[in-house]
Amino acid sequence: MSGEEALEAQLGEREYYRPPAQFVGQANATDPEIYDRFEDFPTGFEEWAELLDWDEYWDEPFDGSEPPFFKWFVGGKLNASYNCIDRHLDERANQTALLWESEDSEEVRRIAYQDLYREVNELAAALRELGVEEDDIVTLHLPMVPALPITMLALARIGAPHSQVFAGFSADALATRIDDAGSDVVVTIDGYYRRGELLHHKQKADQAVESADHDVDNVLVWTRHGPEDLHEDASWEDGRDIFIEDLVAEHEGDRIQPVSRDAEDPLFLMYTSGTTGRPKGCQHRTGGYLTWAAGTSRNVLDIKPEDTYWCAADIGWITGHSYIVYGPLALGTTSLMREGAPDTPHKGIIWEIAERYDVDIFHTSPTAVRMFMKWGEDIPAGYDFDFRHLTTVGEPIQPEAWKWYYEHIGHGDAVIVDTWWQTETGGHLITNLPALQDMKPGSAGVAVPGIKANVYGPAGEPVAPESGQAGDLVIERPWPGMLQTVYGDPERFIETYWSQFSDTNSDDWRDWVYCPEDGAVYEEDGYFRILGRLDDVMNVAGHRIGTMELESAVAQVPEVAEAAVAARQDDMKGEVPDVYVIPREGIDEEVDIPAKAVAAIEEEIGAFARPNAVIVVDELPKTRSGKIMRRLLENISNDENLGNTDTLRDPSVPEQIRQQVHGD
Ligand code: WTA
Repeated sequence: MSGEEALEAQLGEREYYRPPAQFVGQANATDPEIYDRFEDFPTGFEEWAELLDWDEYWDEPFDGSEPPFFKWFVGGKLNASYNCIDRHLDERANQTALLWESEDSEEVRRIAYQDLYREVNELAAALRELGVEEDDIVTLHLPMVPALPITMLALARIGAPHSQVFAGFSADALATRIDDAGSDVVVTIDGYYRRGELLHHKQKADQAVESADHDVDNVLVWTRHGPEDLHEDASWEDGRDIFIEDLVAEHEGDRIQPVSRDAEDPLFLMYTSGTTGRPKGCQHRTGGYLTWAAGTSRNVLDIKPEDTYWCAADIGWITGHSYIVYGPLALGTTSLMREGAPDTPHKGIIWEIAERYDVDIFHTSPTAVRMFMKWGEDIPAGYDFDFRHLTTVGEPIQPEAWKWYYEHIGHGDAVIVDTWWQTETGGHLITNLPALQDMKPGSAGVAVPGIKANVYGPAGEPVAPESGQAGDLVIERPWPGMLQTVYGDPERFIETYWSQFSDTNSDDWRDWVYCPEDGAVYEEDGYFRILGRLDDVMNVAGHRIGTMELESAVAQVPEVAEAAVAARQDDMKGEVPDVYVIPREGIDEEVDIPAKAVAAIEEEIGAFARPNAVIVVDELPKTRSGKIMRRLLENISNDENLGNTDTLRDPSVPEQIRQQVHGD
């Protein structure tokens, strides 16, 4: 973290905004005592566990005897599908649970709780008959269609953890995740719409199954327009491929008793990028995760059953798991989901839909806000929508963008919560309870009830808030939503999240400190200002992309000798990757190395990770021992001062590259 940034954080007097009285008057969380109650560790968290229906209550809320493998609601039993569906049937069978809009709005589905119950049961029965058993991990590769939450809930019903891979991931990325999870069954769809085009999606699962080491028995195929109207490019492998519509047709009217899962049984895996090339399978438990998703949905997002709530994230990422599917449905609300791009068929589509359904709560990323801002306020001004609550997630939001969101989307009478959390944390950890704190643009807010957050200096000493200094954000006490482990790799779990500031020899949980790898400033008013990743992970439009993953993809290009990735600041996406490559000697001059590097990234990861630029250089800045100085590349990408380069093997290299990138 630069001293400048810390100073700016200290000096920048920022305004507070009071939550509007009409919001406070109706809010779910209005009692400030909640913070005191949750300080009563670990019993405070039981209040949120009580939001769920349990088949059996827990014996103890927390077991910290084997740190950092903490257990929550030990002895308790419940089913997530039951909690998201069955228990709402008495009161709201006919209320819409999932409201889905196709990209062109031509197709709309209103899936009432009753319909969701029927569809999930029939699919659960079909999956079971196919041989999917409790604890089998099923990999999904589905886009934003109702099939995705239906499949997740059907698997949850029979106690089979799902591992949903974002549809934008390539076949190779899917294969890596199938192998890591050891899935015998993969679920896909023939196609979906993006910017008006029916993308051929099944091919990725076909290729992934082909290249995976693990033998996949079945590929289950949803269809966008029915089995008789399969995507024209889709191929079919008899015996392996099965239409879900056919499977389900044999189970019409079937009902499956939800499997009573141990609170500690895994509900799902969600792979995420880290510092190495290999993604980590974050494993989330049933009881603690659902408790956290429901508790934060109720208290932070202020969701009520009668609301129409819209989180415009993708269910392929953790935000969609916690805040499109599990949290909102556990509370019995109407959760809206949409296929397609936010500018298709036109740039006002988001607001048109918000008006059409009278959406109450809207949830999106700062990247989206910056994009709306660029498109201009005249676009939202053309629609009659009225939100009472807005959320941002995934990246820091600049005060300027925050204020635009507040004024032009919130019309000055909606609250905004800036929510800090991660795939690993299951749900929000730092953000305001919107009726209880004032909003402060640029700061995520205070720690969620029960969360003990702090900022540490390099030696693990707390940084005094009055110093205004930045440091490592840490969480000093366990919480129910936290990941259980990295699937199949407990050592990596300890190494990645705990080794930095914990006494890893201690069997007292109080000695274990969770390290999210984010920089932050703990402000004097108790708010946290999040500065961004401290490890080799970039945040591109709110998506986590490991620089190592990009580098190893580019290294696959035969003409590339070495590659290094640097993060360039971007007005729209926050950060974008610049790739610096050294070509191999003696290669054909005609080869278009940048094009091959981009293709390699698209193939290994997916088009969403496409770099901003690929810069072919003669040499990379290296230390005398040969270590690449990525920090200098980052300075070059961002046109910053290079400082002293004397200690490099060849001190002239950075300046040469700088001239190549910026001229003069
Ligand atoms: C970043 C997304 C600033 C952070 C839920 C974190 C944020 C990473 C915020 C996790 C925020 C998330 N302000 N930065 N409100 N929320 N981040 O796993 O760097 O996709 O570590 O989870 O996003 O990204 P992930």
